[in-house]
Amino acid sequence: MPVLELEAKGVVKRYGALLANDHVDLAVERGEIHAVMGENGAGKSTLMSILYGLQQPDEGRILLRGAEAHFRSALDAIAAGMGMVHQAFKLFNSLSVWENIVYAREPKSGPFIDRRAARRRVADLARRHRLAVDPDASVGALSVGVRQRIEILKALYREATILILDEPTAVLTPQERDGLFDVMRHLAAEGRTILFVTHKLHEVMAITDRVTVLRDGRVVERLQTKETSPREIIRAMTGRSVSLSVEKGPAQVGAPLLEAIDLTVGRGAKPAVDKASLAVRAGEIVGLAGVAGNGQSELVEALVGLRIADSGGVRVAGKDVTEAGVAERRAAGIAYVPEDRALVGSALAASAADNLAMGFQRAPPVARGFLIDPAATAARARALIAKFGVKIESERAAVGSLSGGNLQKVVVARELAHEAPVLIAEQPTRGLDVGATEFIHRQLIAERDKGRAVLLISAELSEILALSDRILVMYEGRILADMPQAEANEETLGLLMAGRTQAAAA
Ligand SMILES: Nc1ncnc2c1ncn2[C@@H]1O[C@H](COP(=O)(O)OP(=O)(O)OP(=O)(O)O)[C@@H](O)[C@H]1O
Ligand SMILES: [Mg+2]
Repeated sequence: MPVLELEAKGVVKRYGALLANDHVDLAVERGEIHAVMGENGAGKSTLMSILYGLQQPDEGRILLRGAEAHFRSALDAIAAGMGMVHQAFKLFNSLSVWENIVYAREPKSGPFIDRRAARRRVADLARRHRLAVDPDASVGALSVGVRQRIEILKALYREATILILDEPTAVLTPQERDGLFDVMRHLAAEGRTILFVTHKLHEVMAITDRVTVLRDGRVVERLQTKETSPREIIRAMTGRSVSLSVEKGPAQVGAPLLEAIDLTVGRGAKPAVDKASLAVRAGEIVGLAGVAGNGQSELVEALVGLRIADSGGVRVAGKDVTEAGVAERRAAGIAYVPEDRALVGSALAASAADNLAMGFQRAPPVARGFLIDPAATAARARALIAKFGVKIESERAAVGSLSGGNLQKVVVARELAHEAPVLIAEQPTRGLDVGATEFIHRQLIAERDKGRAVLLISAELSEILALSDRILVMYEGRILADMPQAEANEETLGLLMAGRTQAAAA
C-alpha cells in the first residue's frame, strides 16, 4: 500500500472576492513525483505556499504522514521536513554558495561558525546528490541553473523529505532541465516526495507518477501519468482542446527594419557579443537560438538601448540609433518584451491600467493634450485585459498580486499594443499555460502579417522552429548560422548551438 506523505483536505483560500483555492483535496504518496497543473491563475502557487506554511488557509487542513500539521510559518514547515524552490529564487547574492546553503543552520565550533565543517558538508552533500557546485563561488555571479541547484541543496541540507518545485524548469536550458530531472528521479528513488508545478506537458509525461489538475481553484482531475495523455490533461485544464501546432502562411518580406552592424559588447579577447550582424525585415519573424549565456541577452540589451555597444551600429527603420538611449529607440520604433518581467518589464506596486499605459503617456487615447485621460486609459486597459485573458479583479488592481503567467500577459499585451515597426520578444511565453501560449503565438504571427519585423529569442527550440521564418544561432558571442526555417530542425540547431559550423551541421 502506498503511504500518504502529504495531504490537503478542503483547503480554501480567498483574496477578497476571489477564490484562489476552492476546497482543494490533494493526496501525495511517499516517493512519488506528483505534478500539479492548471492554467495561469488556477491556484497552483497559492496551494504550494499554503502547504509550505507561507500562507494560512481560510478553511481546511494539512496532514503530514497522517497527522494534522499546523504551520504558522515556513520555519514550521522546514522543521517538519519540507523544502521549496520558488518561482522566483530567494538567495543572498553577496554571500558564497556554502554560506547560502547553511544559512541560519551553521555548524558551530563554540560561538563561531565552523567554516571548514560547513564547506565540507556542502561539498559532501553536492557530491552525494550529483549537484555540481563550487562551494566558494559568489552566488550573484552564477547562472540560473546553478542557483536553482543551490536552492535544492539548501533544502536537502535542512533534511527535507518533501520538495516543492514551483515551475523549476521555466528558466532552465534543455540541458539544465535534463540534469534537474536526473536529480528529481534520484531523490524520489531515495524515498523523497516531490511536488512539481509546470506548464510543459512533455515534462509531466516524462517524469511524473501522478497529476492533479486545478481549474479556477478547484481540483478537476486526478490522473495516473501512465494512463493519460497530453490531450486529456489539456482538456481537464481548459475544458477545450488547444492546438499545439501553429498555422502560418508564407512571409511577405519587405525592407530591413532592425539592423545590427558588427555589434560588439564587452572588450578583450572574449567580448560578450563579438561583431554580430543581423537584419530583421518587415513581415518576418527571425528566431535567435542559442544556449543561454552565449551573448543573446547582451545582444538584445545593445539593440534596445539598455547598454551602449562598444563598437558597431544599430539601425531602426533606417535611422541610426547607435548612440540613442532606451526612450529614444522606443520612439524610433522598438517594442520590447523583456525576459525579466518582474524587474524590467513592470512596476509591481502600480495598477494594471498604469502598467498597460506605460510608454503611451504622450499619445491618445491615454493622453488628451498634456493630460492623462483616466477614463480612456481604463477603457483601453479593460480591452487589453479581455483580449489577452488576464486573470485580474479589475484594471485598478496592482500587478504585484497577479500569478506569474498573468503578469507575463500584461507585459506582452502592452508591448504588442505598441504598434512599433520592430518587436523584440524575449522568452514571450515563459510561464504561460498552453492556451495562453497558443494565443501569443497567433498574435506574433498576426503582427508579422501586419508588416512588423519580429526578433524572437527563446530557450524553447520548438517555439523557435514553429514561429520563425529565418533562424540565427548564437555561439560564444558570434552569430554562427543564418538559415531559412525550412532547413532547420532540432538536431541541426542543437549542433550549431554547441558550436559546430553550419557546413558541419548540415
Ligand atoms: N497576494 C494576493 N493578493 C490577491 N490575489 C492574489 C494574491 N496571490 C494570488 N492571488 C490571485 O490568486 C489566483 C491564483 O494565483 P496563483 O499564483 O496561485 O496562480 P498559479 O496557478 O500559480 O498561476 P501561474 O501559472 O500563472 O503561476 C490568481 O488570480 C491571483 O491573482
Ligand atoms: Mg504560479
